[in-house]
Amino acid sequence: MNRKYRKTVIAGNWKMNKTPSETKEFMTQLKTIMPRGRWCDVALCVPAVCIPAAVRAMRETRVGIGAENCNPNPSGAYTGEIATNMLVDAGCKYVIIGHSERRAMGETDADVNAKVLAALEAGLVPIMCCGETLEQREAGITDEWIAMQIKLGLKGVPEEKIRKVIIAYEPIWAIGTGRTATPEQAEEVCENIRTVVRKLYSSKNARAISILYGGSMNEKNAFELLAQPDIDGGLIGGASLVPEKFVKIIEAANQPTV
Ligand code: PGA
Repeated sequence: MNRKYRKTVIAGNWKMNKTPSETKEFMTQLKTIMPRGRWCDVALCVPAVCIPAAVRAMRETRVGIGAENCNPNPSGAYTGEIATNMLVDAGCKYVIIGHSERRAMGETDADVNAKVLAALEAGLVPIMCCGETLEQREAGITDEWIAMQIKLGLKGVPEEKIRKVIIAYEPIWAIGTGRTATPEQAEEVCENIRTVVRKLYSSKNARAISILYGGSMNEKNAFELLAQPDIDGGLIGGASLVPEKFVKIIEAANQPTV
């Protein structure tokens, strides 16, 4: 983290978990134990049907609600899809784009790019994900792969909008596996991401952009990961489903010493 130059963001990704009723229950519990946020922004990205319950429950709080996907088209014949303006109207502030689980379902870098542009246009904060497979890491092509995902994902994002984008580095081999990247491994890639952004935009904007780590981040390892200079927060799956665990991660981000 580097609070002098950029925001720290703790974002939950619920994936396909919890019903609207369970969402209400979770939010009620979270509100009672939520620390008074001193530094970090908190987001919870939830299944589309849970958005209304989450927004309603967190209206008077500093927790922003987000979606887990969006369609880049403004409206039309896209059965089952949800447009960015619908998310905004439903009260969303954030949207996760290009999660590896969606890429595995066929989402391409061009799709990710179109969604990032549509989200920005609608006034949503895109949380754009990138990450390498274990095979790519072992072949020594992590940096090139990530640089390509960043360059293609941000294509056409103008200088004045780049600060709105949050980038999440999520090594695929660390997602839901309990196998976290070491703080050094995660820092190395996050630092590389900032270098790529610096080459595309001004150094001032590269310094201001928040880069999150995701992949088995939990209440035990969060502090060490967040202590790295280029890791500005976390995108948290499993541990964001339990209020107590999620709050511990927020507390780790609120530590005054790092
Ligand atoms: P995990 O998921 O924390 O359960 O590994 C992270 C993510 O996929 O965003």
